[in-house]
Amino acid sequence: MSTHVETTGPLTTESGAPVSDNQNSQTAGVGGPVLLQDQLLIEKLAHFNRERIPERIVHARGAGAYGKFTVTADVTGYTRAAFLSEVGKETEVFARFSTVAGNLGAADAVRDPRGFALKFYTEEGNYDLVGNNTPVFFIKDAIKFPDFIHTQKRDPYTGSQEADNVFDFWGLSPESTHQVTWLFGDRGIPASYRHMHGFGSHTFQWTNADGEIFWVKYHFKTDQGIKNLTEEEAAVLAGQDPDSHQRDLRESIETGDFPNWTVYVQVMPASEAADYRFNPFDLTKVWPHADYPLIPIGKMELNRNPENIFAEVEQSVFSPAHFVPGIGPSPDKMLQGRLFGYGDAHRYRVGINADHLPVNRPHAAEARTHGRDGQMYDGRHGGAKNYEPNSFGGPAQTDKPLWADVAVSGATTESVAPSHAEDNDFVQAGNLYRLMSESEQARLISNLAGALAGVTRDDILRRAIENFRKADADYGKRLEAAVEALRG
Ligand code: HEM
Repeated sequence: MSTHVETTGPLTTESGAPVSDNQNSQTAGVGGPVLLQDQLLIEKLAHFNRERIPERIVHARGAGAYGKFTVTADVTGYTRAAFLSEVGKETEVFARFSTVAGNLGAADAVRDPRGFALKFYTEEGNYDLVGNNTPVFFIKDAIKFPDFIHTQKRDPYTGSQEADNVFDFWGLSPESTHQVTWLFGDRGIPASYRHMHGFGSHTFQWTNADGEIFWVKYHFKTDQGIKNLTEEEAAVLAGQDPDSHQRDLRESIETGDFPNWTVYVQVMPASEAADYRFNPFDLTKVWPHADYPLIPIGKMELNRNPENIFAEVEQSVFSPAHFVPGIGPSPDKMLQGRLFGYGDAHRYRVGINADHLPVNRPHAAEARTHGRDGQMYDGRHGGAKNYEPNSFGGPAQTDKPLWADVAVSGATTESVAPSHAEDNDFVQAGNLYRLMSESEQARLISNLAGALAGVTRDDILRRAIENFRKADADYGKRLEAAVEALRG
């Protein structure tokens, strides 16, 4: 995939001239000052200064691998996506797994959601599914995302993550109670990227050849089995081997122990959305499997490591707006915000031609746009016309939208998303708590109390605990007692 450079022959400058001395810079006389005419020295220092690009504002720390997706069930009744059109059909994929809050060099074994970003190189263009290892999220409106992430990252004054900020925001955003309960439970620190499930998390639109609409949620279940670390195990591993997840993924692929996931969807016919007991476009809620069962549709295997982490992982870009015919967005307000956010991040972080890089460009299709030029443009379009319509036989529009239109009504508004019959911020958090065994509950309480004990202000602490009490009275009571015991 990458363009290899010959390693035989003489060392050269960037412009290809042979280098005579790579150990000693040029000086005016032995022991004298260094000369401006030493272009090799200047070029090396200048290139070195520009080696880093801005790290991702979230999910900076991650690891990637290539593999394949294989269809195992007929889903043509639900979607006309070509890569899902036949049982047995294979599509190349690139996956990048990540933590959320840590910077580029942060340790892997931490309590944090894991990103689960996938790029399917389909014959109709690249389809990106940019999910997490959790089926839900902390908030349900993109307008809150920058504030939320500010509380997860470093405080402007202390330069560290602060429990006060974290629990202040969560306490004031009760819709986070479900995801926070998930995060401080057993699955909050996966043992590796191979031993966790993946979720598209949002609801997406599938449309079939007849134009029928279905709302769909994706689930990737690990075939390696779920394995997690306890708080104590993670603290030791994060110190001893900060790259534990990255190393595990690379080594398992190097030894031929390829990680696999079984892929399922939950499918809701569009006609059922309005009366469903939960708002189906609310990212803080799951669709219980009893309502919409998991339908197996495929397998994903990762079997090839990237050769160059910077080129293929750091510069990889995934966008929830990268759809293919038969797949589209839902009105989920978080997803809608993300449709803008990622492309914008790519243009800032990698540049306007990020989609031309080998890892990002379509592999099974060709990008035929009239977009041109910009930094690092490689001239791939030659002398072809750069406008449309044109009379020179250039690529033209298809008149076939990727996804189906969705009916809307009412005036523009800044209201909260509609509440369905059983919607509130606590119902599914309480259900999750009550689903846990006694020992799971005990670990959840201990993990959460440990983090809450770092909060310095009583009002922030009380408000945070109150949300868990509203989810389940026993949950709140035990948490309060555990925090009090830790605070002494
Ligand atoms: C409105 C809410 C959100 C916004 C504005 C947002 C924005 C971003 C941005 C700007 C990046 C960095 C992209 C880059 O530099 O290449 C990113 C990365 C990522 N986000 Fe989000 N995000 C949001 C919610 C979510 C949710 C709900 C999920 C999962 C369900 C998610 C999963 C990811 C993943 C997996 C990555 C890393 C992608 C990669 O490996 O390159 N994000 N997000």
